[in-house]
This record gives sequence, structure tokens and C-alpha cells, in this order.
Amino acid sequence: MASDITIPSGSGNLGTWLYQDKEFPFFATKYRLNEITQTHPRDSDIFIATYPKSGTTWVQTIVHLLLRKKPIESALDWLQPFLELPIVKSNEEGNKLPIAPFFYTEEFIEKLPIPRVFKTHLPWEIVPKNSNAKYIYTYRNPKDIVVSGYHYVKGLKYYSYHGTIDEYISLFKLGKVEYGDWRDHVNSWYNNKHLPNILLLTYEDLSKNFKSSVLRVAAFLSIELTNQLYEFVSDFSSFQSMKSNKFVNKSDVPWNKNTDAFIRNGTVGDWKNYFSDEQCVSFNSWCDEKVNYDINLYYSMKSI
Ligand code: PPS
Repeated sequence: MASDITIPSGSGNLGTWLYQDKEFPFFATKYRLNEITQTHPRDSDIFIATYPKSGTTWVQTIVHLLLRKKPIESALDWLQPFLELPIVKSNEEGNKLPIAPFFYTEEFIEKLPIPRVFKTHLPWEIVPKNSNAKYIYTYRNPKDIVVSGYHYVKGLKYYSYHGTIDEYISLFKLGKVEYGDWRDHVNSWYNNKHLPNILLLTYEDLSKNFKSSVLRVAAFLSIELTNQLYEFVSDFSSFQSMKSNKFVNKSDVPWNKNTDAFIRNGTVGDWKNYFSDEQCVSFNSWCDEKVNYDINLYYSMKSI
């Protein structure tokens, strides 16, 4: 860890806690994480995995449109459960689905349409494994993740974060944010990229080479991508379409302060509006300490 990093004081609380030496959000309880490590996925299960703010919702939307061939007309958190949220045995409220849950019931998870699709931010070590299940991992330039994450914690009521972007950059480099050190997370998946049931995507490729990224996802899921299906996916996963869909942008969940927290800016390189040259150099060398250059993110840190 770079020695010039100090914990910012007085910038508020991100509410993280330690599990297996990694920082986790408050809603991913120890009970749930223990349970996850003992879960055996079905052969047909699909996991959409990321470090937060890397393009999860975008890939979730693309996968939904490819698989179900229908627009998103109910909350994405219900269509594709967030793995780390608690699963309760049964609940009287279970049939009254809120717009986005803080828990699921066992019955709900059992009855999901096949293939079941889960969203997760877990590192490879903790995610439940089955050599026949499919895992799509998307990664993104970490400086854009920082900017996206900063706006996110400012935009949600359950974080009491009131620090500056500089303080948030320090927290990120210390790994004192949800899901911990970005470098460990991305390495955990990248080092397993040889496995036939892992597909790696990048946010930058989705942005610049959308069609080839969608083709890769469709091929990985054995879905025939006709021109008509591609047009449909392209329309309903566009930034504007997702930003205006309340089931995707989560604008009406009670803990959201504004419509921008989840679907905000949607560009590559927004970090340039927030990082000074000095911060950029220091951040790059922090990445260099652990990130394998093959990962192909280094170029985008310097030249996008
Ligand atoms: S989360 O909360 O961890 O699930 O967030 P995640 O979905 O991973 O990342 C949110 C960022 O993805 C951007 N986004 C998109 N960009 C381009 N096109 C589309 N269709 C799209 N959908 C989501 C979203 O705006 C967040 O990035 P920033 O940089 O904040 O805009």
C-alpha cells in the first residue's frame, strides 16, 4: 500500500465492515456471506459480477434483454437478485414486492425463471462456484469508478459521506470503500480468465465497441443475435433509455436523493474533470503496485 495515503478524518462514514480481511457493505451481513460460501449454484445460473460502479447495471440490462427479449418493466433487483442481500425463509410481506429489496425470500429465489441471473460484487474467491454456471465479469478504468462511486455515496441517503473527492480518492486507495481494494478484486477475476465459464468485458469496450461486446455476451450465453434482437438490445440498453426507466435508475427508491445516483453520466474518462495531474500520477503508481499490465487498463488510464 502506498505510504503517502492517510485516512481522511471527518468525511463521514461509508459503513463498511471486514469479512475475510476485505471491506463489505453493511447490507452484506456475515450470516449471508457465510451462507454464500456454502451455496452451490445450479448449472444454468448466470452471475453478473463487478467491482461496484464498473457497469453492472448496463450488463444486467443487456443480459435481460438478450435472454428474456422483453423490456425491463419491473425492478431490476427483482429480475436479477443481488446475491449479497439477505434471503429470509419466509415473510408475510414476501408477495408485496417493493421497488428494490433489502431481502428476498427463499420461495422467491426458488421460483425465479430459468436461467436464474444474479448480480454480485463479490471477488472470485467468495463467489459461489459451479464449473457449468456462467460468470460475466466487467471491469472499468478505476479512476472513472472513483468518480462514479463518489457521486453515488453522495446521492444516497444511507451514506453519511460528506467528504471531498480528494478524500474519497484516499479512501479508495486505502480500500476503505465497499468491496475493498479494487486491485485485489480485479486481479481475483482476471487471474481466472482462462476458465471457459468466465467472460471478461470492459466498460470501455461496451462504450466504444458496443456491438462486438453484445455479440460476445450473446455467444457466451448461446443466444443467437439476429439483427432484430441486436436493435432491440441496443435501443433499450442505451444510456438515455436506462436513465429514463425507473425500474433501472432506481429513482423512486426511498433512499435515493436524486435520479443520478445509479445512471449518472455514462462516459469514459469523466475522471479528467476531477483528478489533478498530481493525483493522476499518484493513482497510476498505486495501480502499478498490484495490477498486471496484461489487464489492459493501464492504457486507458493514460490515454483516453
Ligand atoms: S452499481 O451501483 O455498482 O451497480 O453501479 P454500476 O451499474 O456498476 O455502475 C454505474 C455506472 O455505469 C453507468 N452506466 C452506463 N454507462 C453507459 N451506458 C449505459 N447504458 C449505462 N448504464 C449505466 C452509470 O452511469 C454509472 O457510471 P457514471 O460514471 O457514474 O455515469
